[in-house]
Amino acid sequence: KEYNVAILGATGAVGTRLMQKLAESNIPVKSLKLLASKRSAGKKLKYRDDVLTVEEATPDSFDGVDLVLASAGGAVSKKLLPEAVKRGAVAVDNTSAFRMDPDVPLVVPEVNPDALENHHGIIANPNCSTIQMVVALEPIRKQFGLKQIIVSTYQAASGAGQSGLDELRDEAQEHLDGKKMDAHIFPVKGEKEHYPLAFNLLPQIDVFEKDGYTHEEWKMIHETKKIMLNDMNSGAIKVTATCVRVPVEICHGESVYFTVDDAKDASREKIQSILNDAPGVTLKDDPKKQLYPQPIDAAGKEDTYVGRVRPDQENDNAYNMWVVADNLLKGAALNTVEIGEELVKRDLI
Ligand code: A2P
Repeated sequence: KEYNVAILGATGAVGTRLMQKLAESNIPVKSLKLLASKRSAGKKLKYRDDVLTVEEATPDSFDGVDLVLASAGGAVSKKLLPEAVKRGAVAVDNTSAFRMDPDVPLVVPEVNPDALENHHGIIANPNCSTIQMVVALEPIRKQFGLKQIIVSTYQAASGAGQSGLDELRDEAQEHLDGKKMDAHIFPVKGEKEHYPLAFNLLPQIDVFEKDGYTHEEWKMIHETKKIMLNDMNSGAIKVTATCVRVPVEICHGESVYFTVDDAKDASREKIQSILNDAPGVTLKDDPKKQLYPQPIDAAGKEDTYVGRVRPDQENDNAYNMWVVADNLLKGAALNTVEIGEELVKRDLI
């Protein structure tokens, strides 16, 4: 069986990586359509040995398409993915548009691949910060159970797409040249206020909710519950998050504090050994050798890197760890393509 595939948002920071990871995947591709906005129509992009022409995405673009990999923003997904499904396609969506829809599985293949069995045409790829955290926590949860997660994130500029990356580089240059930094994207495109990210930290990712949390924090809390417990509002694991944008180009870092179920007997060594054997995880944890994950090393890599595993000195059953992964790969394009591979394996397209 071979599939007609379309990439929606092919020209973007995630889209270009979707092409790369699709080419490396075991999804049998009969044809590939590259879709983006009108601005990019006619642009040529290389896929394997072919040069393909980007087309403007319209509902009719999906005629004859079997599998859509989408990363063109929530509004575009909301408008076009139902059209794709109407025309018989299965869509894996990288945006937050459908993640909380009860009919839409939210999937990290290392954690909840079985959720794919109940799909209705659209499958959601979780938020980048959520993915790397659950990849690291799930093997620990399986062994020891989890009661609570407190996470603080250090999120790269590329989470805001190519334009976010460009803004960080421009601001850094302006600052080094002694000029005023010109901020117009961060913290959030379209917000009232904009602040420089270069040489700065911004404790706001996405818009604020009424309760003082940002929407990015809300996503981490509820997506984690939906992925791990199949219930976005479950109280079985308590989760809280603080999300911070940092002037790093690629890779999100996370300080994760978690408590395991007290009936089980966990230890630092056992957690390290579980992480060492966990799918999709590379343990990089040796304080004596100053070994720990860093964005500079993890960029371009597929694995989620974990280090600094250590027990809380005051609270029983509590641990800290540091998690780093490429937000454009495992956080986005790679996980999306892995969902596609799982759909192919289970014959769900
Ligand atoms: P384009 O390059 O033509 O603007 P990023 O996440 O890096 O910002 O990329 C966003 C992706 O979504 C790009 O490929 C962009 O295409 C695409 N996109 C933006 N708006 C639309 C739209 N209205 N229809 C289809 N694709 C869109």
